[in-house]
Amino acid sequence: MSHIVHHHDVLVIGSGAAGMTLALQLSDHYQVAMLSKDIVSEGSTYYAQGGVAAVLDKYDSIESHIQDTLVAGAGLCHLDTVTYTVEQSSKVISWLVELGVQFDMETQPDGSEDFHLTKEGGHSHRRIIHAADATGREIAVKLQEQVQARPNIEVLERYVAVDLITTDRLGLSDKRCIGAYVMNLETQEVELFRADHVVLATGGASKVYLYTSNPDTASGDGIAMAWRAGCRVGNMEFNQFHPTCLYHPEAKSFLITEALRGEGARLVLPDGTPFMKKFDDREELAPRDIVARAIDHEMKRLGCDCVYLDISHKDSGFITSHFPTIYARCLELGIDITTSPIPIVPAAHYTCGGIVTDLNGRTDIPNLYAVGESSFTGLHGANRMASNSLLECMVFAVAAARHIQAQQEAPALSIGIPAWDDTQVTDSDEDVIISHNWDELRRFMWDYVGIVRTNKRLQRARRRVQLLTQEVTEYYSNYKISNDLLELRNLITVADLIIQSAIQRRESRGLHYTLDYPRLSPVARDTILVPPNYG
Ligand code: FAD
Ligand code: SIN
Repeated sequence: MSHIVHHHDVLVIGSGAAGMTLALQLSDHYQVAMLSKDIVSEGSTYYAQGGVAAVLDKYDSIESHIQDTLVAGAGLCHLDTVTYTVEQSSKVISWLVELGVQFDMETQPDGSEDFHLTKEGGHSHRRIIHAADATGREIAVKLQEQVQARPNIEVLERYVAVDLITTDRLGLSDKRCIGAYVMNLETQEVELFRADHVVLATGGASKVYLYTSNPDTASGDGIAMAWRAGCRVGNMEFNQFHPTCLYHPEAKSFLITEALRGEGARLVLPDGTPFMKKFDDREELAPRDIVARAIDHEMKRLGCDCVYLDISHKDSGFITSHFPTIYARCLELGIDITTSPIPIVPAAHYTCGGIVTDLNGRTDIPNLYAVGESSFTGLHGANRMASNSLLECMVFAVAAARHIQAQQEAPALSIGIPAWDDTQVTDSDEDVIISHNWDELRRFMWDYVGIVRTNKRLQRARRRVQLLTQEVTEYYSNYKISNDLLELRNLITVADLIIQSAIQRRESRGLHYTLDYPRLSPVARDTILVPPNYG
């Protein structure tokens, strides 16, 4: 039992674009702890390829970006959120440039230099600002340099938040968040973090699926912790499957950016025939839900393991300068993308739903915020438009920081917070339960709650998730925790929330497609799940 207690003004759980932006915004006046369950850079942000959507071109407009987002979101985007986010886009880019982020430039017809903007699905203009095909890495590295230079930010790597601490758990009546129990992976001890404000910036939950473009950190921890603490979650049925992840036995989770299609790459069948035209007039640049479903359909129709993305008709110098990371990785695996098509499959990529927040990132629990992919702001609706995610991370981190700064100091607590007590549990002698349940969960989520759903498949998944919940709850109460157990427990909660939400949606909309209700309902409604301890 550890008696280590940390005190900070603000506890930021997560070190991606959302967490680092928030920490930086507050670091002049607040003592901030920023946790990362792995090294700082290990999160989706670092792996982002395409770029950040922003209105920067003189022929583009705020209205057009809003309109494209609404169309991709299939009737479920919240207009106030979309408008707010898009209006902030150029400010966020200026901030990044001030911090030293280097985006690709190009020479304009009049000889001046300006940002090179690329195109992705759903966008009616070139509006994706990028750093070749490794935009996330450039942003993450520059933000991390800044974070590490600020004395008020304490960075704690390999610290895994286990659960939030709210005053109601201590028997007080005014519910608010006052910290978290956090496991130090070096010592395997759970330490107590006290803070006036707590921010969940833990990213998405795509690891709930067998095949994903996401790094291992994407286990939905923040969503599950918030749910257990009493926050509502919204639209969890909308999991985005990225149409083009590399299909190769040695490549785990390697994305082939949509910007390739933006620059003219074609999707083709194994015999070289293009096929997108028969699914959508926008062909390769239709929104992701449509492209992923089209690929899934063709793979099932032909019984093939993958289809192909072909950019080899473009000039090889253009390909290697715009997509150096993808070119190099594919070449390592024996695929020269300047001459050969790339084998691809769809994979789970983005969690559109999450913890319900307002425009300031506030959750249902006072002093608890959620920003970035773990949140549900209403921006993405039923399908996120490409490159709107990094934008959302930074826009809402700035908004939440501003809100925290405007708050009065929280009243002092009259009672102490107990240390984490593990005196009643023992070391597990059956870790196989964890690894087996991990595999089972991710496989049935892929098979039954994937790109195409049915009532029967969802009910099957529900029964299985109920069993896993029982088994893992029992295990959690009896044995010492480990990172794998914590992630499994969180993923089971998230899977349950996804399944419940998918069962409630009796229509096909955006990323939720079911053979039992293939039509769009005339009324567009969010799916909001309310936990038993809400309010
Ligand atoms: P992340 O960057 O995922 O960071 C989450 C952080 O939380 C990590 O530091 C992790 O360690 C920490 N964490 C999680 N759980 C815990 C816990 N229990 N305790 C402590 N710490 C915890 N979006 C775009 O807009 N443009 C793109 O071009 C783009 N390309 C992408 C390419 C790939 C391959 C992927 C996977 C995603 C891409 N996305 C893109 C989506 C986008 O990158 C993510 O949505 C975004 O980076 C999420 O940022 P975040 O800060 O919310 O979370
Ligand atoms: C990509 O580069 O294709 C990913 C963009 C995104 O997920 O927004």
